[in-house]
Amino acid sequence: MSKKSLTILITGATSGIGRHAALHLAHLGHRVFATGRNPAALELLKTDARDTRLETLVLDVTDPASVAGAKASVDARTGGHGLDVLVNNAGYGVLGPTEMISDEDMRAQYETNVFGLMAVTRAFLPQMRERGAGRIINVSSLGGRFTLPLFGVYNSTKYAVESLSDALRVELRPFGVQVSLIEPGVIDTGFTDRSMIEASKYRRADSPYAPVLDRAEDMRKFSDKTAVGPRCISRAIEKAATARRPNARYVAPLRAGFAMGFLRALPERWADALLALALGFTRRRFARQLASTSKALQLQGR
Ligand SMILES: NC(=O)c1ccc[n+]([C@@H]2O[C@H](COP(=O)([O-])OP(=O)(O)OC[C@H]3O[C@@H](n4cnc5c(N)ncnc54)[C@H](OP(=O)(O)O)[C@@H]3O)[C@@H](O)[C@H]2O)c1
Repeated sequence: MSKKSLTILITGATSGIGRHAALHLAHLGHRVFATGRNPAALELLKTDARDTRLETLVLDVTDPASVAGAKASVDARTGGHGLDVLVNNAGYGVLGPTEMISDEDMRAQYETNVFGLMAVTRAFLPQMRERGAGRIINVSSLGGRFTLPLFGVYNSTKYAVESLSDALRVELRPFGVQVSLIEPGVIDTGFTDRSMIEASKYRRADSPYAPVLDRAEDMRKFSDKTAVGPRCISRAIEKAATARRPNARYVAPLRAGFAMGFLRALPERWADALLALALGFTRRRFARQLASTSKALQLQGR
């Protein structure tokens, strides 16, 4: 492990994983640019980070002017050196039946989780490439390798992050820039609350998916029970930032990795059946919907 003090920028540091990682890395002695959209939350973070070298910057990853402003500010504050490590963490999850999620919500999800991540990467990468050293750490998800029903749109953005990172890792190797993915399982942050808020607009009583959407609160309770704190993710980010030879992927917590490994080892038909059962996508649960549809078709003479 390198003991060198690094200059690190983290996106989405106003809450959850990003906030915890910013404080963790700052307490290890690194110079951390903790960034986010909410100035009041950044101010609070700065107060909590007293006696460290944590600095804050307003950065909305979907706003090109904000990205350019953050880049100029980092350049000015580092005398043109730029970053040693970029942690692309900002993201959120839209939850709902894949058929029902609006184009607008889907585009917004991609704007933050995929295009925002690439915009920030493009802004800070050239200095690393020219210097022949640097690290990019992209916070993906176990959902970037395994899709859950109702998480199709969110998971697809993380699949995109995985693929872009895999390409960048090989492309940037000759330039001395290393790329790692962090794949969190269920972590206790504001993420689930936000997903539930996003999901609420798709929980209509007349939705054909109502029988499973009614169970959203049960799923949330289950997820809350299995969630762990963000410390394991901060440790994974620390390893990706400082290990002499960082891994391509860090899964945390480990037990989430085992669960994913188990599901991926099953024949797809079995894994589908297991997920359908767990989440309630069974013909029995949808019996009333299916019956009323076939009755309506009969009445129409089809
Ligand atoms: N928690 C989990 O179970 C889990 C599991 C797998 C992967 N992840 C991933 O981990 C990352 C962090 O999530 P979290 O769990 O820490 O959730 P969180 O507590 O909701 O934090 C998300 C952070 O992203 C920021 N953000 C969202 N849109 C942004 C934008 N356009 N520009 C800048 N910042 C923006 C949020 O800022 P605002 O407050 O301004 O919205 C917030 O600081 C995400 O990429 C998420 O997909 C989380």
